Amino acid sequence: MMGLEIKKYPDSILRQKCQKVDVFDKELKLICQKMIEIIKENQGIGLAAPQVGILKRIIVVDFDNNLKIFINPEILKKSKEKEIFEEGCLSFPGLFLKIKRPKEIEIKAQDLNGQEIKMKLNGLTARIFQHEVDHLDGILFIDRVGKFKKLALAFKKLFGKRK
Ligand code: CO
Repeated sequence: MMGLEIKKYPDSILRQKCQKVDVFDKELKLICQKMIEIIKENQGIGLAAPQVGILKRIIVVDFDNNLKIFINPEILKKSKEKEIFEEGCLSFPGLFLKIKRPKEIEIKAQDLNGQEIKMKLNGLTARIFQHEVDHLDGILFIDRVGKFKKLALAFKKLFGKRK
């Protein structure tokens, strides 16, 4: 595999839906290794495979400075209670947006060997997990901002460069 690089918005690959992983082989381990290298190089706290051009359901999430890989991640339950928190994304350098998301989630995924993982997440890890799972379905954090903010962003795009 060649060196991977981060795909930046508006790269169309960021809008595609990723395929489920069903072979847990050396290639998968290599992809995950590369993703960990990239997230470290860029000091990120989360990364999804499509962000490096790979359309597979793989994400990396920072757990208190430990990078954890989740294959085929799914959100089983979301708390009714929501929380607003500022998010960034390696595919949108310099953009930070306040996004409202469920505060706690219950998740299911597989590890590198295909073993099932089930966890309850809250706080920053729940936040990152939800952001990264969105990427696997081509959903970006700019899609999750409120209507007024969306309008403001559209205006900025239209008129921002005019002098
Ligand atoms: Co992102």
